[in-house]
Amino acid sequence: MLRYLKKYWVYCLLAPLFMLGELTMDLLQPAMMATIVDEGVLGSDMQIIVYEGIRMVLLVIFGGTCGVLCCVFANIAAQSFGNDVRKDMFSHIMDFSFEQTDFFTTGSLVTRITNDVTQVEQMVMMSVRSLVRCVVMFVGGIYMLYRQAPQFAFVAAWGLPFITAIVVFSLKKVSPLYTVIQQKLDRLNCIMQENIAGTRVVKAYVKEEYELEHFSDANHSLCDTNLHAQTILAFLNPSVNIILNLCVVGVLYVGGDMLRTDGSVTPGQIMAAITYLSLILMRIVFMANIFQTFTRASASWKRIREVLDTENAQQSGTRCPDEDRKGEIEFRQVSFAYADAPDRPVLNNLSFSVRRGETLAIIGSTGSGKTSLVQLIPRFYDVTAGAVLVDGQDVREYPLQVLRDKIGIVQQKAELFSRSIQENICWGCEQAEESDVRHAARIAQAEDFIRRMPKSYETPVTEGGHSLSGGQKQRISIARAVIKKPEILIFDDSGSALDLKTEARLYDALHQEFAGTTRIIVAQRIASVRQADRILVLDNGQICACGTHEELQESSAVYREICRSQLRKGAMA
Ligand code: CTP
Ligand code: MG
Repeated sequence: MLRYLKKYWVYCLLAPLFMLGELTMDLLQPAMMATIVDEGVLGSDMQIIVYEGIRMVLLVIFGGTCGVLCCVFANIAAQSFGNDVRKDMFSHIMDFSFEQTDFFTTGSLVTRITNDVTQVEQMVMMSVRSLVRCVVMFVGGIYMLYRQAPQFAFVAAWGLPFITAIVVFSLKKVSPLYTVIQQKLDRLNCIMQENIAGTRVVKAYVKEEYELEHFSDANHSLCDTNLHAQTILAFLNPSVNIILNLCVVGVLYVGGDMLRTDGSVTPGQIMAAITYLSLILMRIVFMANIFQTFTRASASWKRIREVLDTENAQQSGTRCPDEDRKGEIEFRQVSFAYADAPDRPVLNNLSFSVRRGETLAIIGSTGSGKTSLVQLIPRFYDVTAGAVLVDGQDVREYPLQVLRDKIGIVQQKAELFSRSIQENICWGCEQAEESDVRHAARIAQAEDFIRRMPKSYETPVTEGGHSLSGGQKQRISIARAVIKKPEILIFDDSGSALDLKTEARLYDALHQEFAGTTRIIVAQRIASVRQADRILVLDNGQICACGTHEELQESSAVYREICRSQLRKGAMA
């Protein structure tokens, strides 16, 4: 944490310094008031009232100015600290591998980067502002009380252990609840996010009530834990107040007795002593609040550290490949299983290679491992056995950016950002000119529909791309990939929402414009794959055949079955 605060040490220092100015006012004011009462009011000396009164007002102005400055500097330190932590967390999360994001879950990451950082921010604020204030006020208050009369300090000393015991007891009870609260907040965020993003499904199945109940359960659970913590803390103030009032009675009794017997204290001093006493004892409650913030923040900081300390599981390599080999892919006895099911391999001992400029189609039943296979090429996941080679070099040896720059991948689920269509396409290549965007859109068969949009390329895309049809989203994703002019183009079922004519035009355009680019096309329809140089038939994570359309019709029963089933469907349609 100090690493983040170091940059703002000046503010961390200035805030407590100005706080001391504010404190001087708080500590001197009751003593001045005592003089006004004793010498001015009771001694009927108007000059003292005016003189001390002016001094007091000036002191208040000075103290107030110091207070404002302290607050400003403390805020600068805390907000800048939070800003840096959030930025670091975000950059870390962006670096996470798919598996790591799945492990943390989106809901939890959102809570950590927002709520958890806010908790720690508050702690920083309190540390530089209130902690110093509390400690100085506490010590200063005892000193000033002692100065009024040592007997008063003795009375306060009786109350202190009781109050400390109450505070320690409450904090001990409440601390473990904070980790639970943050976890429950994770859960709530997760449900909220899933439901808001999936609102169309919820409505389609009329599941609003069901999901509301789901949400309410999580919400109640969070509420209960919060309430539990607050109930414990609710006892704190009244308990301290009882002891405080007992001490006040003690001071009045001792002071009254001294006033009556030998007149060694004045009524003004007794009044000041009561003010100091409240100051001291209330500081303990304040400190309890600070410790409470500390406990809560330390639970949050632990969660933040979990994110910050998680290094990307995929270490980027350092070797760059031969310049003269471009677009070659080889799978060498590749097996792969997802981390959450290590005993259930999704791909089993696959070996094949793709030449530069070749078009390899991959076909297979749903769940056969097509997406998993293509995701190994840009190293979204690492193989569990064997190796994936791009241009003759293991993908694990590449700097990740160099590897991914070579590849343009259009994922099965088109993900767009809530920016204009132009920006979404340019996203693939920042330096792209307007003419490049148009060209990419033309290849992706998207130009016609984009031109018909109200603001053409400037038309904004709503969140999640809901303002576009499935096929339109797919075509913008394709344009985003082709604008990169990559060495390897991967389409994961990216033409599934296109009609056959549009899809055929897309592949023709790709064939013309990307003749030298290696293309991997995952598809479900025979019509989408039959033009490919080779077709790889995947069945249950294994290659069951590979060849041209004609060859496979001869040699592969699985392929023939796929052809037959689609012909039947075609005939029925
Ligand atoms: N799978 C998994 N964890 C993931 C993704 C997939 O365990 N994060 C499993 C799926 O349950 C499936 C297998 O991996 O059994 C293969 O999934 P995938 O490669 O996505 O199959 P595809 O052939 O791409 O299926 P589809 O045609 O439906 O896209
Ligand atoms: Mg798939």
